[in-house]
Amino acid sequence: MKILGTGSAVPKQTVTNDMLSDFVDTNDVWITTRTGIKSRQIITTERFEELAALAGQRAIEAAGLVPEDIDFIICHNVCNVYVTPSLAALVQGILGIKGPNCPTMDLNSACAGFTYGLEICDSFIATGRAKHILFICAEEVTRMVDWTQRETCVLFGDGAGAMVLGAGDNYLASKLTSTPMPDVIYYRLPCEPTPFETGEGIDTHIAMQLKGREVFRMAVTSAQRDIRDVIEKAGLKLEDIDHFLLHQANQRIIDAIKQDFDLPPERFHSNIQKRGNTSSASIPMLLDEEIREGRIKRGDLMVFNGFGAGFVTSAAVMRY
Ligand code: ACO
Repeated sequence: MKILGTGSAVPKQTVTNDMLSDFVDTNDVWITTRTGIKSRQIITTERFEELAALAGQRAIEAAGLVPEDIDFIICHNVCNVYVTPSLAALVQGILGIKGPNCPTMDLNSACAGFTYGLEICDSFIATGRAKHILFICAEEVTRMVDWTQRETCVLFGDGAGAMVLGAGDNYLASKLTSTPMPDVIYYRLPCEPTPFETGEGIDTHIAMQLKGREVFRMAVTSAQRDIRDVIEKAGLKLEDIDHFLLHQANQRIIDAIKQDFDLPPERFHSNIQKRGNTSSASIPMLLDEEIREGRIKRGDLMVFNGFGAGFVTSAAVMRY
């Protein structure tokens, strides 16, 4: 599998830390020192599925293709207003890709979803069942949080990162893990009531909850382990890797992971300062930005690493 082109899209509204202090008891110093975040983009008037499709369209253009060349659309998304149809099906309609020869589906592996999705894409590309997959990670996490809870609402941003994947030998190794720990990060929505449902207290609405310190510790520990494991699996050495693109959850998490590796710090990329935590979209958005700004070039070796609700983790080694 090979990346043929990348794209990304963010909402037009930038919200600074100072703007957040109009809503909740917080301040720029707390947010900056605890998270590294200075601003984020937040959905206002945009339609979420159009934002996802825009990222996809940019990836198709970067690949030198047209929408009709796409023969599979896979989206990764934790939450949006449509439970069904899938985001991928909505994107297909917006991009004007006619059926029936372009199947669509969504995945959900929380903030680790980018590399989980790559693994699925690779299984279709490697077996020749798809030629050009449009893979989009799109999230509107700011609509999963309670905007009166300062512990969570300051952390997130919205956005979409996309790529077109085709045949090639650039996907070198991967590792996916999952450990059932539903209390650590969760968000619950009620389903429709029925005359038969008897469980008490199950169907309550609970905005995003997270045990920040526990997530922090697990993220650092799992990343240090998964990054080493996946590089070894690829038959490479740490110093062979040109770029580390980690889930952008917190700059302090990235710094703690970085400290464990004796490597030039600039190999660890970051855009959380201006984007916030965009869940599964964070790595492909960062990748697209770094490619477009010329910091990642064809032939460079990259490691992707994500972690999130589940508790799930993922890592991959890929050549651009
Ligand atoms: N503004 C001001 N003060 C705040 C805010 C805020 N936005 N939020 C919390 N505080 C206060 C708390 O009330 C607490 O006050 P107290 O000492 O009087 O009780 C104090 O700041 C310290 O709070 P902690 O939660 O202990 O702060 P911590 O240093 O652990 O930082 C954070 C919290 C940023 C969430 C950190 O734990 C973290 O990054 N965790 C992991 C990342 C994470 O959970 N990301 C969420 C998504 S999951 C994912 O992406 C994988």
